[in-house]
Amino acid sequence: ETVEWEAASYDMGGHDTYMHKEISEQADAVDRVLRGRIDEKFSTVHLGGLNLDAREARGIRRVKILGCGTSYHAGMIGASLIEGLARIPADSEPASEFRYRNPVVDPDTLYIAVSQSGETYDVLAAVQELKRKGARVLGVVNVVGSAIAREADGGVYVHAGPEVCVVSTKCFTNTVVAFALLALHLGRIRDLSVADGKRIIEGLRKLPGQIQEILEGEEDIKKLAAEYADAKSMMFIGRVRGYPVALEASLKLKEISYIHAEAYPASELKHGPLALIEPAMPTVAIVPNDSLLEKNRAAMEEIKARSGKILAVAHQVQEKADHTIIVPKNEDELDPILMGIPLQLLAYHTALALGRDIDKPRNLAKSVTVE
Ligand code: G6P
Repeated sequence: ETVEWEAASYDMGGHDTYMHKEISEQADAVDRVLRGRIDEKFSTVHLGGLNLDAREARGIRRVKILGCGTSYHAGMIGASLIEGLARIPADSEPASEFRYRNPVVDPDTLYIAVSQSGETYDVLAAVQELKRKGARVLGVVNVVGSAIAREADGGVYVHAGPEVCVVSTKCFTNTVVAFALLALHLGRIRDLSVADGKRIIEGLRKLPGQIQEILEGEEDIKKLAAEYADAKSMMFIGRVRGYPVALEASLKLKEISYIHAEAYPASELKHGPLALIEPAMPTVAIVPNDSLLEKNRAAMEEIKARSGKILAVAHQVQEKADHTIIVPKNEDELDPILMGIPLQLLAYHTALALGRDIDKPRNLAKSVTVE
């Protein structure tokens, strides 16, 4: 299953930057990663290149996901999808750190390397080290036939299409959707019920339309960006599923706008970062309508009590926040996919307002093929 990338997809297509083009393409990109993979009859998904049979899938005791930068963050959401839907303990770790701590390589662990380019040296070297030690390694990769895709024992192609801007947007989103497919596939081989399988499939099918709806709100997000662009520093908070969304949004903002940003689990605020809160340091809070809603509201209250300004990304207006970006609700497990998208636009318009070179931020490269 390969998808040819046509020269036309490198065309700017009327956008001023590749980043804007790539953000705008996300509904189609998600449609592509889903295409031909959903099995309505058995409420599962088929992944042609996985190379992992049902018996092997049932024998997995742990999942360890490895990536760098944005791919590491996509892997964090992937881990929570695998843990939630397939009930296999899973976590994501920077590939470079993993490789240097002489990790215990366990035969019952499934290792997954995540990479847009499929060429990042730290990820490739981690894969090679794992294979040397006899591990089973899958790839969740965008570029077909890339080094990591070739080195892995099997995997899932992300089908985001070519991504030119140095910072990753559509590939991040598609990678998380690819993980949702993998989690559903593993879940249905293990304990996930037909009803839950159906529920997730329905949620996945809704994603492209909901992404389009978010993108149509761009003008409002642009106005918000103008409000926050003079911040010296920004805090991003979220809990559990919202935390990797906060991490990725903070990375995106710092990469292209050069505004200092930090991400914390909302629950950790009181253990240190609350000391930083003052009017000049606004907070972006990820506030989904899930079981942690009240906890997230309490965190916003703490910030308000210190005169901090708050921009919430939520499913309904948040009274504690100064501004709310409302995103459409999906299944709890899939909400992080949607909540990240308005924050890509926020980073984009902030960087634009500051006159940054968005597609080629200083000191960064699209793919780091050396150590
Ligand atoms: C570089 C890029 C990041 C990217 C990371 C991993 O640092 O600037 O945007 O997330 O590499 O790249 P990969 O191709 O492995 O996903």
